[in-house]
Amino acid sequence: MTFLINPYTQENHDIVYDICVKTADNGDDASHLHEDPKLIGHCFAGPYINLEPDSAFILNDDNGPCGYIIGALDSASFYKKMRGVWLPDIRKNYEDPTSDPDTWNKDEEMIHLIFHPEEPVLFPAYPSHLHIDLLPKAQGQGQGKQMMDHFLKYLKKKASKGVHLGLSVHNDRAFRFYKKYGMVELKRNFDSIIMGLSFE
Ligand SMILES: CC(C)(COP(=O)(O)OP(=O)(O)OC[C@H]1O[C@@H](n2cnc3c(N)ncnc32)[C@H](O)[C@@H]1OP(=O)(O)O)[C@@H](O)C(=O)NCCC(=O)NCCS
Repeated sequence: MTFLINPYTQENHDIVYDICVKTADNGDDASHLHEDPKLIGHCFAGPYINLEPDSAFILNDDNGPCGYIIGALDSASFYKKMRGVWLPDIRKNYEDPTSDPDTWNKDEEMIHLIFHPEEPVLFPAYPSHLHIDLLPKAQGQGQGKQMMDHFLKYLKKKASKGVHLGLSVHNDRAFRFYKKYGMVELKRNFDSIIMGLSFE
């Protein structure tokens, strides 16, 4: 199998959404958890490929796309656009759930997040951020490292001084991967970890 990293194009839109849900359960497939498979993508992939498509890259194998790395050069201005432009547009397709939160399914939890996004936490020494997701068939063959190298080269060329990312405390595999890549833990709470890498 040969792998190639290409810039994101509009024709990759749906496959990015698909890869997003197929890797969203702490790295495993989350499709069975959602009736609306687009919800995960609306929160974690759509904002990037729509608002900052130049900061998105696709991993292709002989059969087509099998992974992506997406992100934002400047997290502060990205979150401003996400909250001011992207989320209001997505909200038009959904209704904010008003029932008891204890009864919500995963779709309703995501819809709540679309109407009430968490306050973004910024890391000024690490202004950029990223998300990387590869389908199982592309994992464990060094392609994650290639994608990180490619994206960090892009960020450095754009004069970023550092990058951070968030992951679930339950995603041990990703944690070990980022640590091996040289990222350091910046923050941790009961369910998530923030890691960063400085370019200075
Ligand atoms: C996490 C992920 C990006 C890693 O990419 P990958 O292609 O599988 O990892 P690679 O094969 O490039 O591994 C790179 C290096 O990390 C090491 N590594 C990878 N996974 C590791 C693990 N679980 N434990 C220890 N080392 C690990 C590899 O041995 C390799 O080291 P080497 O260069 O010395 O051989 C990929 O598995 C993935 O997309 N998983 C599903 C989605 C996900 O969890 N995304 C992250 C969300 S925060």
